[in-house]
Amino acid sequence: MSIVRFGVSLEKELLEALDNYASENHFTNRSQAIRHLINNNTVTSKWQNNDLVAGSITLVFNHHRRDLITNLTDLQHDYLPVILSSQHFHLEKELCMEIIAVKGKASVLKELADKLIAIKGIHHGKLTMSRAS
Ligand code: NI
Repeated sequence: MSIVRFGVSLEKELLEALDNYASENHFTNRSQAIRHLINNNTVTSKWQNNDLVAGSITLVFNHHRRDLITNLTDLQHDYLPVILSSQHFHLEKELCMEIIAVKGKASVLKELADKLIAIKGIHHGKLTMSRAS
């Protein structure tokens, strides 16, 4: 990807806000901060337009809960075309975390995440979407 330089005119307050944003997020320079803001905006619009996106669904649960693992597996098989991979982590004696990597239409990923998070026994779940292209 080629880099293009351009000049930006900003009100002093906006520039201060950009510098604060850059320092709070540990960006080393303004270019990096602006790049991040533009990418965030692109992802949000892809999400809103139901474009192809990639992401992850993180679930934290107690594996002893009856039927939970079966429901979790059944649902992932129902959504096979959008699931790239999943990984299971044993956090504590009974507490587990599963991270499912997904790629597909934003609405399908949201639907899958909502169904997974609604399974009885899931303590916490979160869908994160990023760009797929
Ligand atoms: Ni486990």
